[in-house]
Amino acid sequence: MGKFTEKLKMAGVAVTFRDVILLPGLAEVEPAEVDVSTKVSKNYKLNIPFVSSPMDTVTESEMAIAIAREGGLGVLHRNCSVEEQVEMAKRVKRAEALIIRDVVTVSPDQTVAEAVELMKIHQISGLPVVEGRKLVGIITGRDVRFADAHLKVRDVMTKDVITAGEDIDIEKAKEILHRHRIEKLPIVNESGELKGLITFKDISLRGKYPNAARDEEGQLLCAAAISPFDIERAKKLDKYVDILVTDVAHFHNVRVIQATKKLLQEVNADVIVGNIGTYEAAVDTITQLEGVAGLRVGVGSGSICVTSEVTKAGAPTLFAVAQIADALADYGCDIPVIADGGVRGPGDAALALAAGASAVMAGNLFARCKEAPGTLMAIGGRYYKQYRGMGSPSALAKRYSLDRYSMPAKGIAEGVEGWVPYRGEVSTVLKELCDGLRAAMGYAGAKNIRDLWAKARFGLLTAAGIEETKPHDILLPSESIEKL
Ligand code: XMP
Repeated sequence: MGKFTEKLKMAGVAVTFRDVILLPGLAEVEPAEVDVSTKVSKNYKLNIPFVSSPMDTVTESEMAIAIAREGGLGVLHRNCSVEEQVEMAKRVKRAEALIIRDVVTVSPDQTVAEAVELMKIHQISGLPVVEGRKLVGIITGRDVRFADAHLKVRDVMTKDVITAGEDIDIEKAKEILHRHRIEKLPIVNESGELKGLITFKDISLRGKYPNAARDEEGQLLCAAAISPFDIERAKKLDKYVDILVTDVAHFHNVRVIQATKKLLQEVNADVIVGNIGTYEAAVDTITQLEGVAGLRVGVGSGSICVTSEVTKAGAPTLFAVAQIADALADYGCDIPVIADGGVRGPGDAALALAAGASAVMAGNLFARCKEAPGTLMAIGGRYYKQYRGMGSPSALAKRYSLDRYSMPAKGIAEGVEGWVPYRGEVSTVLKELCDGLRAAMGYAGAKNIRDLWAKARFGLLTAAGIEETKPHDILLPSESIEKL
């Protein structure tokens, strides 16, 4: 047999979500007790294993805030100027904090009108007053409500400010806020200099979102997409975000790996790289790049991808995850794998995790939500949201995507655009995903994700089996919608 015939004959099966099923195993815990917390990168933990894609119809600040509050992570897209992306990151970081560090302040010589304007711009209800760095007062909405706008801040501010030292903890802060019936507690050092601010609002948000994914300052975790060739953007984002995620359709490329080597030396954030799809790509990545904090895995499976259709090249997400997880295990490298593309629900997420992933990235599922930036539209009495691939002609028309799916370079579009059914708030979608995932893990007999890696067994479905896994021999009222 000739070598080409041999190659064809030896072709392995690049299995994807629809091809397999998770076999039931002995369950020791009930689904409600299954722990779905995970690691998304070397240094960051999530309480739920879901990550939203860096796409301009999926993740801007609103999505990133909402998903982090539920315990997951949003990756801010980069189809915008550096300034816009940095602004999005700042908004996520400012959404809540145990101690606000970049406190907005006024000086005692500014006017009441200026203080009111600052409160309006930053949408806050009070400002510490500082002379140099020293705290000399506090001014709140109540102090200025009926005050003459021309008065100086020093004339209306509260001078006896209740403060706390830098070693304050959340319980103590709560107690002080309550005892004095105040909403803001400035933190000062021994010389009376302002070091931060604790607010009642932030403390109550902590109570409202106990499962949120936070950094050590109590701020929501935030990630942003970058190109390895744009080190300036990466460095600017590095000041605000916890994780940088390379946004490259085919990361297993000599020039891309070289550029990432430089990038890794310039930033402090965890860097997740990808996308890759094969064992060899994982080996080249981890052996040539020191300090990679995670791998983004799957090539051409996204619901908006036409890459594989056009080029017949790709690595279906499930297959890719198993390949990469095996490479990492063989090389003793303990970094998280993020399964990216083609996940249509909790069952697919469970399969991806069972195949060795630590987290699941999705675009389509989250583009359906209120917090996604795409336009909402009514078609035939139903609501839909716009969703488009970052390699679609309209996304490419915004020049910032050009280096990921470069039409001029490759001469083809690699994505499509369309509409997905509107599903309401992302918290509802995440709850359904987590409930379904816990149920799937319960069937597999796993009590957490590591346990799932150890215990999961797969069954390969035949075409008849695929039909049987769906409802059958019944006419469903929602048939046409379900197809979406
Ligand atoms: P889902 O299935 O959740 O997949 O819609 C989202 C993932 O798809 C990738 N992506 C693309 N892939 N052409 C592609 O080949 C595109 O235009 C495109 N846009 C996004 C990306 O990895 C995303 O997370």
